[in-house]
Amino acid sequence: MSLSSLQRFSILVSRRVRRASSHLGQWLRGSPRRKAWFYPPAKVATPAEKYRQTNVDYFSDLHAQERMLADQQRMAFYHEAISRKIKPGDRVIDLGTGTGILAAFASRQGAARVYAVDHSSIIEHAKQLAAENGIENVDFEDVHSTKFYLDEPVDVILHEQIGDFLFDEAMVPNVCDLRDRLLKPDGLILPSQFELFCEPMTLHDDRRVPYIWELTDVHGFDFSSMERSRPQDAEYHGLVSCDPGVVKHFLGEPAPMVKVDLHTITESTLPLQVTFTRKVTNAGLLDGLVVFMKAKVDDDLVLSSSPLDPERAPHWGFRILRLDQSDLEIGDELEVTLTVKDWADPETWRWTCGVWGCEDFTD
Ligand SMILES: C[S@@+](CC[C@H](N)C(=O)[O-])C[C@H]1O[C@@H](n2cnc3c(N)ncnc32)[C@H](O)[C@@H]1O
Repeated sequence: MSLSSLQRFSILVSRRVRRASSHLGQWLRGSPRRKAWFYPPAKVATPAEKYRQTNVDYFSDLHAQERMLADQQRMAFYHEAISRKIKPGDRVIDLGTGTGILAAFASRQGAARVYAVDHSSIIEHAKQLAAENGIENVDFEDVHSTKFYLDEPVDVILHEQIGDFLFDEAMVPNVCDLRDRLLKPDGLILPSQFELFCEPMTLHDDRRVPYIWELTDVHGFDFSSMERSRPQDAEYHGLVSCDPGVVKHFLGEPAPMVKVDLHTITESTLPLQVTFTRKVTNAGLLDGLVVFMKAKVDDDLVLSSSPLDPERAPHWGFRILRLDQSDLEIGDELEVTLTVKDWADPETWRWTCGVWGCEDFTD
């Protein structure tokens, strides 16, 4: 065949193929069922999948691991907890092993085997670090914990899945899933007892940032009309800080708003609305509510992110839920209500605070 007849032949074939594929495309799109089968809709990530990816990205970063390792209160708490509670011969799952540091503590405590699970790429460093530190009885599992399986249940689930607001690192679903599948009936979750606080508080005068409409005299300039533009989004009203210097004092005696024992909790037993009262014992300006957590292993072994605890673990943040300012006297009563759609997502939290003085009530 000459070159020109070869060219003509290939043009003819390509035209026929194009025409046939266009007919096929029309036929496929002609029926919704055929169309869905051949052109499945793009998969949209669920909120849980999106969170999982954020978590993987965040903890693959060495600086995230550095901040945790540099938190001496956190490290001392876990080192002591493992020394007290892990017994020689225990089989242990370290959920979210990160650099493998807690798995190493457990191994050195005499654990028979530690299954160190992590879904972030940091686990590659963990394997190397363990080898270099002479840690031998740890199996590193590069997988999300819900996809981790064992033939026999373990004695201990060790974890550090503690978010700034306790529940925002999926601690409850992740631990409950492993507990229900892979922990012996009398097994231990370390740590298992948590408290979440939400305390009415006063900020230091030089650190207070009032709402813009509360600024009625900035060198003679009045912003009070800005209240008409009060934002409604929770992100504006809830601020996050790691700086304990901002909170001056609590207005009442702190008490946990929610208590959790991971041995017994399920996601559905967490209340979606909590109401509590506080009597003012320390007068001052009510600037908002400060949310922080405590984890308890024994009465004398507690990890705290309270901004007013000199022993606080510094890398955890706390959340300030802003309120319109009011001046409170000793004896005044506050009623706080927190409503949440999802404890893991602080953007879904809404709060109100009623104040009863001697005679008046504001909301
Ligand atoms: C707060 S860090 C703790 C790291 C380490 N245990 C420590 O104490 O230094 C949490 C770790 O858990 C991992 N992680 C979070 N959820 C996980 C899950 N469901 N399955 C596996 N790894 C998870 C993260 O990648 C991260 O490395």
